Amino acid sequence: MVPRKLHVLSCLFCCLPLVRPFHWQDPPPFDFGSSAWFHKIQSVMSAAGPGHSHIPKGNGSYPVGCTDLMFGYANESAFLRLYYPAQDQDHLDTVWIPNKEYFFGLSKFIGTPQFVGNILHFLYGSKTTPASWNSPLRTGEKYPLIVFSHGLGAFRTIYSAIGIGLASYGFIVAAVEHRDGSASASYYFEDQAAAKAENRTWLYLKMVKQEEAEKVRKQQVRQRAKECSQALSAILDIGHGSPKENILGSDFDVRQLKDAIDGDKIAVIGHSFGGATVIHALSEDQRFKCGVALDPWMFPVSEELYSQIPQPLFFINSAQFQSPKDIMKMKRFYQPGKERKMIAIKGSVHQNFADFTFVTGKIIGTKLTLKGEIDSCVAIDLTNKASLAFLQRHLGLHKDFNQWDSLVEGNDKNLIPGPPSDVVTLSPTLQSSPGSHTQN
Ligand SMILES: *[C@@H]1O[C@H](CO)[C@@H](O)[C@H](O)[C@H]1NC(C)=O
Ligand SMILES: *[C@@H]1O[C@H](CO)[C@@H](O)[C@H](O)[C@H]1NC(C)=O
Ligand SMILES: *[C@@H]1O[C@H](CO)[C@@H](O)[C@H](O)[C@H]1NC(C)=O
Repeated sequence: MVPRKLHVLSCLFCCLPLVRPFHWQDPPPFDFGSSAWFHKIQSVMSAAGPGHSHIPKGNGSYPVGCTDLMFGYANESAFLRLYYPAQDQDHLDTVWIPNKEYFFGLSKFIGTPQFVGNILHFLYGSKTTPASWNSPLRTGEKYPLIVFSHGLGAFRTIYSAIGIGLASYGFIVAAVEHRDGSASASYYFEDQAAAKAENRTWLYLKMVKQEEAEKVRKQQVRQRAKECSQALSAILDIGHGSPKENILGSDFDVRQLKDAIDGDKIAVIGHSFGGATVIHALSEDQRFKCGVALDPWMFPVSEELYSQIPQPLFFINSAQFQSPKDIMKMKRFYQPGKERKMIAIKGSVHQNFADFTFVTGKIIGTKLTLKGEIDSCVAIDLTNKASLAFLQRHLGLHKDFNQWDSLVEGNDKNLIPGPPSDVVTLSPTLQSSPGSHTQN
């Protein structure tokens, strides 16, 4: 855990994208002085080399495999990264961010020129995450399924600590890549010929003006919820044995998934904009039996939904992001006879749920609010275990995740229980948050 100097330097640069907070109505922040960037880039280049820190392995007993799946063509195709229990761990680790364009997208997200994307790609393009790429699926069991929705400016691959963590406990996790213009970047193939030639059509982050924010974000969250349902349908079809072609043409044979999915045990989880997506997906698709919203961005969540979520819903918040007004919105989901839980992780920040919290040194990571005061591994461990306990209860699993039931109630030295009975008596950590306007 001792931050290495070289690591810190190289991370300084890579962290900037995700932390530079900009207000949702801001135009892209092009206000970095060019000379400041020049110096940062120089120090990064002289530090020469990617960071040494790594994304943690899952703590469960299953080896974890990973593959990418795309079904269909053009902008209506479904695209997802699948984490699953694997037969063995001897395949190569998975490339974390697999195309240069994602780095260009990140550079656009923070409002920097495209060459910054080149540098990010140089530093992080070969970084891996601990899942065996295209490893055969472990057979002999039907697995519960989780659909995962990413945050604004993110994409399908950068929540691997959660995806791998849950898969290591025996889940199949489908991390969707959204095509609503909220991902830093995403791509599709126009048609079969384009797929064959690997001629990708890239979509980048859509900038949203303040006047349109409410309308656009609400449209986006609806599209995101549809994309979760679409991914779910695709996977269930394969689970039932219908021949569906993965147009990415990988070594992972999707027919392995036949009879491997327990179609009654499906949950939806997401972070930030993805947390808002969880709420919408639950209201629109009853195949999702319960949901976990990780520090949800409440801005796009429609008020009509307060009484339209019959399924159990669990909010796991960071200590800093949510304003009292946001917490109030979450509390409106507490309706008679509905199962609701809420906890916050002490000393955590909004970005504690995404992988970037792991690829930075402690000092820089803290400074740029990619890391909180809490150790990032402890925070993700609590997130995963509390989610597992909640999933066991509401998906009717026969595992030992109930050993973490107390976490769902917030009984841990690193947790703050919720919801408060009255928003005025909220803990100071929750109250002091500036989060309602920040995005993603
Ligand atoms: C796909 O593109 C068509 C035409 O460009 C557009 O009408 C449609 O809304 C798009 N669909 C999605 C899901 O973006
Ligand atoms: C790639 O696809 C685009 C449109 O989808 C097309 O205009 C272009 O000619 C294609 N490029 C190649 C090399 O096939
Ligand atoms: C795995 O478990 C150890 C021991 O309980 C814990 O310290 C660590 O943070 C966990 N890692 C993850 C990624 O959950």
